[in-house]
Amino acid sequence: MGREEEEDDKNGGGERKLGDETASSFFDGTGLVCVTGGTGFIASWLIMRLLQRGYSVRATVRTNPEGNKKDISYLTELPFASERLKIFTADLNEPESFKPAIEGCKAVFHVAHPMDPNSNETEEIVTKRTVQGLMGILKSCVDAKTVKRFFYTSSAVTVFYGVGSGDGGNGGEVDESVWSDVEVFRNQKEKRVSSAYVVSKMAAERAALEFGGDNGLEVVTVVLPLVVGPFISPSLPSSVFISLAMIFGTYKEKYLFDTYNMVHINDVARAMIYLLERPVAKGRYICSSVEMKIDEVFELLSTKFPQFQLPPVDLKSYRVEKRMSLSSKKLRSEGFEFKSGADEIFAGAIKCCQARGFL
Ligand SMILES: NC(=O)c1ccc[n+]([C@@H]2O[C@H](COP(=O)([O-])OP(=O)(O)OC[C@H]3O[C@@H](n4cnc5c(N)ncnc54)[C@H](OP(=O)(O)O)[C@@H]3O)[C@@H](O)[C@H]2O)c1
Repeated sequence: MGREEEEDDKNGGGERKLGDETASSFFDGTGLVCVTGGTGFIASWLIMRLLQRGYSVRATVRTNPEGNKKDISYLTELPFASERLKIFTADLNEPESFKPAIEGCKAVFHVAHPMDPNSNETEEIVTKRTVQGLMGILKSCVDAKTVKRFFYTSSAVTVFYGVGSGDGGNGGEVDESVWSDVEVFRNQKEKRVSSAYVVSKMAAERAALEFGGDNGLEVVTVVLPLVVGPFISPSLPSSVFISLAMIFGTYKEKYLFDTYNMVHINDVARAMIYLLERPVAKGRYICSSVEMKIDEVFELLSTKFPQFQLPPVDLKSYRVEKRMSLSSKKLRSEGFEFKSGADEIFAGAIKCCQARGFL
């Protein structure tokens, strides 16, 4: 029961069947896996897909800082959740707290990250919490003796700012061999993300890969650009807001990119499950399917969604940080195929935002 993915258009994402392209004898859609940060945009969608695929899932959530009980019915009421989803409490501030959730699991998807865009915390504080939390999770994976593969959800900020990619750079292509140089990021005139985010994501991804090498744990990192599409989590995901900044109108200039690198949320979950089920998957995987210039985004939104008033930005002469192109060749060469293009990415996001009252 549950191996087959159901067609599920209710979230506006144009969901498709995973099919059997991912099946292997390594992870075959059964067994126990852990997802950290279960309440978030990406994690909640991944949990939904893992349950549909047949896995039993342990999701970690943190308690509200105010101590109130969180409404996580969007997780506990998912199909198959009553039989195969268990919720655990864990916080990156308490690295040991993930241990009970990880014990007995075959794989761990570490998705939690301090994401508060309004936080004034320094990059040292955010990085310390991120890396200490990560190390606690990695140690629990080794102690459990059952965890075969660990996934870290990384960001394209770890590859965007390589040498030669600064302001005015000519935007070449980057693959997994490239690492951002924090100094290149710091020298950007217009910063699109906080330095705390860039530094903490880089430190965590490197630490995870190094730990895997030193401790014989298979570590896979999935390097994501803007993840967009429908969502089941209750708040408006920041990446959905950023991708639709032109429509929301209350955009800040910094949310208008010269180039939009994006991937559909469902392709992210599919790629993670695909890499889970590959007998051999190792190291970094860029998972990015759509690259559009700002005028192409404007054109698509104004043509397909004429009901929205887009901002009068002179897009032709709009010139900001040149983004690098992201190569997903490694992931594709493993046999993975992206299913959703720009139309589905935007339509899924907009339909969901409308249905949930954000638009
Ligand atoms: N969305 C994107 O476009 C994108 C792109 C590249 C990479 N990523 C990466 O993907 C991951 C998920 O992103 P998202 O967009 O899904 O973000 P999100 O919706 O904000 O989810 C973040 C999750 O982390 C949890 N969290 C925050 N601080 C925590 C702490 N101290 N202890 C335990 N959990 C904590 C949050 O819990 P609460 O619900 O309690 O706040 C939430 O569940 C992050 O690692 C992010 O860097 C995302």
